[in-house]
Amino acid sequence: MLAGKKILLAVSGSIAAYKAALIVRILMKGQAEVRVIMTENAKKFVTPTTLSTLSKQPVYTSFYKNDSEEWHNHVALGIWADVLIIAPASAHTLSKMAQGICDNFLLSVFLSARCPVYFAPAMDLDMLAHPATQKNINLLVSRGNHLIASDVGDLASGLNGKGRMAAPETIIKILEAHFKIGAFYNKKVLITSGPTYEALDSVRFIGNHSSGKMGYALALLFAKKGAQVVFISGPVKNYPIHPNIKVIKVTSADEMMEVCKNQYVDIDFAVFAAAVADYKPSKTFDKKHKKDGTPLNITLIENPDIAREIGKLKTEKQLHIGFALETNDGEVSAKLKIKRKNFDLIVLNSLKDPGVNFGGDTNKITIFDPFDKEISFELKHKKEVAQDIVKIIESYA
Ligand code: PMT
Repeated sequence: MLAGKKILLAVSGSIAAYKAALIVRILMKGQAEVRVIMTENAKKFVTPTTLSTLSKQPVYTSFYKNDSEEWHNHVALGIWADVLIIAPASAHTLSKMAQGICDNFLLSVFLSARCPVYFAPAMDLDMLAHPATQKNINLLVSRGNHLIASDVGDLASGLNGKGRMAAPETIIKILEAHFKIGAFYNKKVLITSGPTYEALDSVRFIGNHSSGKMGYALALLFAKKGAQVVFISGPVKNYPIHPNIKVIKVTSADEMMEVCKNQYVDIDFAVFAAAVADYKPSKTFDKKHKKDGTPLNITLIENPDIAREIGKLKTEKQLHIGFALETNDGEVSAKLKIKRKNFDLIVLNSLKDPGVNFGGDTNKITIFDPFDKEISFELKHKKEVAQDIVKIIESYA
């Protein structure tokens, strides 16, 4: 699981720093590539020579190489890593991480890292329980960093309580789970899927032929990767079943809009795969409308644009992925929709392509980002298409 993974271990000043040696040893045994950063205070608890010997790499202890004028590139190190783990994270380091203070090499790497960040606090029980520390931890977690909770037990102070750094074996298990499940573990994903039906009267509607198969495949895949999925679907034959999927059935675009607004709480990813009817009848007859020999004129009015409205709520932490179903000028229309609907990625499927249709099992897609990057895929089963889409989303997450 860990073989070939690039792991950056940052050690700050706490008695638990000696356990960093064990973490490095287990990682190396698992054939991970390990680089270690230490703060000045960490060096008082375990030596750089120990960690350098175990990791078979020089240890980063300052901005400069061997006290020369040559500096270590903290940005490159953050980009190199698949994951950054700060263990132990002392109260001091935690507070600086939360405040964005950058007065040592560890903090400069933390601030520039693009990879997922895990941190394992280690300190005395009262320090951990202090509202200031708790506020810092909560702030870090709210920004997407992953907390590895402290253990309860004997502490260096002689007291007993919660504050010990999690055991190295626990930290390794969490890292293994990270690489097994990827970026979606415990993330909240909202997916719209299927058609919407816009009622004409009590028995007739305007709709389209979306089967919801594309949304279904995406929902199952996200759920299998550990995400919590809110699946908001128009009327279709089959709905995905998985403990991680909450299905909410709707009929019309107005209903889908309402549910999306209510469910858009703590959402990390929103995927708009639904074929929402752009128009609805201006008036709905309560009962079945009977024919009377005269033409029936129906005025259609625009439905809410769900992706666009929810797009206005998007913050920097959230990623929105839209679909574009086109028959002509696909690329131009898809790129316009990225801007108009505030998407981070758009998946274009064109009904011009053989094998692409509502209800079918296959799809052929091109994914665009706002910077004109595009990736095209062959015609594939929708299950495999979902895998391609999720892989691309993961690389942007
Ligand atoms: O369900 P299947 O049979 O498996 O078919 C899959 C699919 C073809 C429906 C799916 O792959 C797809 O393309 N879904 C989006 C269809 C669509 O409505 O595209 P659009 O180009 O009209 O809309 C652009 C985006 O805005 C989409 O993300 C759409 O969900 C969203 N939208 C559109 C209109 C609206 N009123 N509200 C929206 O949220």
